[in-house]
Amino acid sequence: MNTLIVYDSQYGNTERIAQEIGESLSALGRARAVRVDAVRASDLEDVELLFIGSPTQGWRPTQTIQSYLRSPSFDQLRGAHVACFDTRFQKPRWLTGSAAGVMAKRLRERGIEPAAEPTSFFVGGTEGPLLDGEVERAKAWAMGIARRLAPQPARQR
Ligand SMILES: Cc1cc2nc3c(=O)[nH]c(=O)nc-3n(C[C@H](O)[C@H](O)[C@H](O)COP(=O)(O)O)c2cc1C
Repeated sequence: MNTLIVYDSQYGNTERIAQEIGESLSALGRARAVRVDAVRASDLEDVELLFIGSPTQGWRPTQTIQSYLRSPSFDQLRGAHVACFDTRFQKPRWLTGSAAGVMAKRLRERGIEPAAEPTSFFVGGTEGPLLDGEVERAKAWAMGIARRLAPQPARQR
């Protein structure tokens, strides 16, 4: 499965999740993590599964991710599956907001139904670190989505 992970990150925590997801999913095919300001339109060509990750800042994704979600290059997606994640504080979502929730809403406004529930991974403070077990949880989450969407191999006779 050809997977692209587009992310933004101020202190490196969302970047770490993006890269770890990329490394795990490379077991299933091409997978790479690219920071949002370095993504070119051609990166979306042939992508089957796109993850978008952002830190939650002021209840929302970063400005750069918000612009990315509005960009015309997004029209290149052509039926690729999309899933959103964020990093944020481990408090009730009504207190913290969730960048992933906002991203999923923006996708739906563009007619794209996310392939999975928006999901958050938790940091211990503004600059991190990621809480124990969050990297593993992120890898398992992403792998679960990819396995569910990957074409099943033909059954052996
Ligand atoms: C300006 C700013 C606003 C923030 N607002 C929120 C918020 O609304 N909710 C929340 O849970 N965390 C908030 N945080 C904490 C971030 O979610 C945390 O810095 C982020 O998860 C770290 O990811 P990064 O290392 O990829 O930047 C905020 C952080 C900054 C710097």
